[in-house]
Amino acid sequence: MAHVTRQVEEAAARLNAGGLVAMPTETVYGLAARADLPEAVAQVFRMKGRPSTNPLIVHLSDASEATAWAADIPDIAKHLMQHFWPGPLTLVFQARPEVSRHITAGQDTVALRVPAHSLARQLIQAVGHALVAPSANRYMSVSPTTAEHVVTQFSGEDLLILDGGPSSVGLESTILSALPGDTLRLLRPGMLDLAAVEVIAGESVSDDVPDTIRVPGQHRRHYAPHTRLCGFSAADAGAWQQDLADSQIGWILCGSPIAPDGPAIQLGAEADAYARRFYDALYQLDARKLKRIWVERPPEGARWQAIRNRLERAITPPD
Ligand code: TXA
Ligand code: MG
Repeated sequence: MAHVTRQVEEAAARLNAGGLVAMPTETVYGLAARADLPEAVAQVFRMKGRPSTNPLIVHLSDASEATAWAADIPDIAKHLMQHFWPGPLTLVFQARPEVSRHITAGQDTVALRVPAHSLARQLIQAVGHALVAPSANRYMSVSPTTAEHVVTQFSGEDLLILDGGPSSVGLESTILSALPGDTLRLLRPGMLDLAAVEVIAGESVSDDVPDTIRVPGQHRRHYAPHTRLCGFSAADAGAWQQDLADSQIGWILCGSPIAPDGPAIQLGAEADAYARRFYDALYQLDARKLKRIWVERPPEGARWQAIRNRLERAITPPD
């Protein structure tokens, strides 16, 4: 434990000096900088290669800090914060006027989250300031769920990596907008159970995102590995069948018992376990420089919504 504390102290010192730290969270690793240091925030955009039009999530160590960022916290959001924070839920609020528009990408809303990972909470507490933290990958690349994934993204960069083991959720947080006078809206699905959110909120979550709410960064192609990714259903005959005998083709399976000659990762047919290992499967197979990766399409149903969403963005569109 003393070892961990020293690591956290070192990471906190790095952040306080304006540096960047790869911070483990329960969803994915974040590329963290102090939210109140403009040069450090600018360095986050630079290191990721991320356009300045794509806003950052502000990470807090406790819900009580939200009032320093949000101008108006509707009662429904207070219930959600009480129930789901710390945890994989990001809430988008009306921003206070003093919140840096570099963080919000010029918008008058701000995204807030309290991560549940103990090292993330210790780190934010040790720093004593909120941290911005986009996923610790280069722009349009796969989010990291282990310290090793971060190394493959940023080798050679001046970045301290705090190793907190594999992320327990494995997909990015669920993002909901909680704007005054509006219904709750789903801006990005995550592994949080929306049925449970609706019970706590006492109202339904809308899937509809009007033009007045911009959600930059949710590109059609995102989360993509270098290797071409194709989807298939084991129940349907198709081009995938010819590839079963090709040892240079990789497979990510969702429960079906097929046995290809190439490297195959069985993620199983249970959504939470699948989500935890999905990005790692992409990193593992991508490293093997295969001709193609076939991904078995997951079932319909709410538990698979976030996984289907990431797959839609990772699968190469047909020519
Ligand atoms: O699980 C997560 O949320 C991870 C960990 C590290 O916390 N972070 C993460 O950050 O996924 P990032 O930057 O990769 O994705 C954040 C997304 C942006 O692409 C954008 O769509 C949305 O959050 N976002 C941030 N601020 C927003 C705002 N004010 N309004 C609407 N969407 C916003
Ligand atoms: Mg990201």
